[in-house]
Amino acid sequence: MPNFHTKTYNQPTLPTKFGETQFQFVATSSRGEVLVMSKCSGEDFLLKVNKNKNGYLIKGDKITRPSQVAVLQRALMDFRDASNAEATLSNIESKKIKSLEISPYLKKMDYFADEFQTDKEILIEVGFGSGRHLLHQAKKHPDKLVIGLEIHKPSIEQVLKQCELQNITNILAVDYDARVFLEFLDSNSVRSIFVHFPVPWDKKPHRRVISERFINEAKRVLKVGGTLELRTDSDNYFEYSFSEFVKQPKVELHVNKNKDLEISSKYEDRWKRQEKDIYDITMVAHENSENVAKIGRLKFSKNIDFSELKKRFEEKILRGDDFFAHIEEIYEIDDTSGFVRVSFGGAQKNEHNYIHITKESISYLPDNVLATKDNLNAHKLIEETLYGICD
Ligand SMILES: C[S@@+](CC[C@H](N)C(=O)[O-])C[C@H]1O[C@@H](n2cnc3c(N)ncnc32)[C@H](O)[C@@H]1O
Repeated sequence: MPNFHTKTYNQPTLPTKFGETQFQFVATSSRGEVLVMSKCSGEDFLLKVNKNKNGYLIKGDKITRPSQVAVLQRALMDFRDASNAEATLSNIESKKIKSLEISPYLKKMDYFADEFQTDKEILIEVGFGSGRHLLHQAKKHPDKLVIGLEIHKPSIEQVLKQCELQNITNILAVDYDARVFLEFLDSNSVRSIFVHFPVPWDKKPHRRVISERFINEAKRVLKVGGTLELRTDSDNYFEYSFSEFVKQPKVELHVNKNKDLEISSKYEDRWKRQEKDIYDITMVAHENSENVAKIGRLKFSKNIDFSELKKRFEEKILRGDDFFAHIEEIYEIDDTSGFVRVSFGGAQKNEHNYIHITKESISYLPDNVLATKDNLNAHKLIEETLYGICD
């Protein structure tokens, strides 16, 4: 990620515009960490100044990172020039730092919360890896929409490249945790969900894709007759998953051993060479499910007096049944405004954000935090705690 070191720098008087970047204000934590609110190419984000024994390290803040690395490089160059810093050990002018290519087939979760609709039948693949099965499904069913979920960016890039080369237009790739993704879909809207060779997570079972919660969400989004298909080479994962599937009060399950599919994935080829057994469990949905409300964004119900909060602030870790909130640090902009840094969510996915508090308003930064079940529960804990401190 772009950054530079400098022995000295002169904090410019803010707000100011330098080059292509507006620098709006500075926020400082009790530990002396400095954040600089910046705007470049229409994006709001923070630069971070860390003091160390050789001077300062100036970089982009991870939580508010702009969508393109080039924007951060531009803002850092502008900050270097605005503050008369002499950048040493700098990579901010490097052309080697690449952004994920923008592709019409790569979708963010905002798209699923705000815009997604389709008349096509939906197929979903969880953890598509090299993408062989995903691409095969898309080519076999040009009339269907194939959504591929993957958290490994190089795999996503590889599949997007293949879509371009092979002129495949019915895939949407999503860089998001499959364990939460299904919450964003309408009930009874999906034909098939494929979970092929998921990571077995023998030592960290809470990370497994298959769980009671995932199976319940799958049942909700599947159409009547739709299927959730697990394929695994792990005896352990098979036994664990089977025990989760049979817990369901009413399901149709099919189990197969060493069944050949039309296409063999990279992992599958490896296991076959090693003569390992491969197991399939297919669950068929039988019931229509009730519709659920669309996922919105987290919002605060009332404002907070920043000066009161600052007086009584302390770091806190709050825990619910299967969610948590960590109120980490406070940053002062002036007497009446500042940031609180928080992390929160469930066992499945964590969010990292600032809460920006001014006299007039309170909001998350970035301000598009999705109100998934875990986020909403954790947000309520944060609200209760912050309001409690200030009352
Ligand atoms: C063992 S690989 C299997 C890849 C592919 N299905 C195959 O058969 O070749 C598991 C893949 O799942 C992805 N993955 C793991 N956990 C995930 C999650 N919670 N959501 C989405 N993808 C996930 C990993 O990045 C990895 O690419």
